[in-house]
Amino acid sequence: MAARTAPEDFSALVQSRRSVRDFLPTPVPPEVLDAILSDANAAPSWSNTQPYRVAVASGAIRDRLQSALTSRFDQGMAAQRGGWLGKLKLLATPGAMPDGDYKVNLEYPEDLQPQRRATGHALYELLHIGRKDQAAREQQMRRNFEFFGAPTALFIFVHSGLKEFSALDAGIFAQTLMLSAHARGLGTCAQGALATWAGPVREAFAVPSHYKLLCGISLGYPSDHPINTFNPGRTTPQSWTLPAR
Ligand SMILES: Cc1cc2nc3c(=O)[nH]c(=O)nc-3n(C[C@H](O)[C@H](O)[C@H](O)COP(=O)(O)O)c2cc1C
Repeated sequence: MAARTAPEDFSALVQSRRSVRDFLPTPVPPEVLDAILSDANAAPSWSNTQPYRVAVASGAIRDRLQSALTSRFDQGMAAQRGGWLGKLKLLATPGAMPDGDYKVNLEYPEDLQPQRRATGHALYELLHIGRKDQAAREQQMRRNFEFFGAPTALFIFVHSGLKEFSALDAGIFAQTLMLSAHARGLGTCAQGALATWAGPVREAFAVPSHYKLLCGISLGYPSDHPINTFNPGRTTPQSWTLPAR
């Protein structure tokens, strides 16, 4: 099996991929979508089981999901602003409470907080959103549920029986898909946020009950909005390679 990509081309592709958070409405041509899914299908997996399922939402289904998810997001935000009464109202509203298969709004471990905070602050700074501008922050958060304007949203489900290993496989699958999209001039954003509510996605697609919603990916052509220049950078490999004892 000969490698046919020059290492410098591979590095250029991998290192120039960035999360895209503003898309043109231009639809993804079916043959381009097929090619991307076909590349993702080449990803390795645990015993070649491919323990994931993907719901591809375009057109009317995508629009319906955007309505369902943004309305849930709006209800959640209104509840937070409404204090205990607002929260009670949310509890009484069918479907409004997060019903994801996994808890998305995790408490971040203390040692991971600095990097998370730095990334969030840098993004808001780029958008000129102040630290106390709750309304603008909320609006930006809401964009997740509009798929940042992307014409296609993918929802990735993993087999519950393989536990962490199906999530590992789904991660490899997702990165393969995102790199294929990038190579073809499209952009992507992996979104944990899209696993907050599973109900609307399960209503729209025939998802077997043992497949659990792990995350989403927005897919489309990047716009020239400044948000797409955001590069949070990385630590150095020395910061995560372990010293020998
Ligand atoms: C599993 C996963 C979940 C993510 N969830 C979100 C999300 O909900 N919203 C968002 O705007 N970005 C999300 N991101 C994008 C990350 O913030 C981004 O990958 C990281 O900051 C590095 O930036 P880059 O992708 O531009 O290199 C997610 C990325 C991954 C891999």
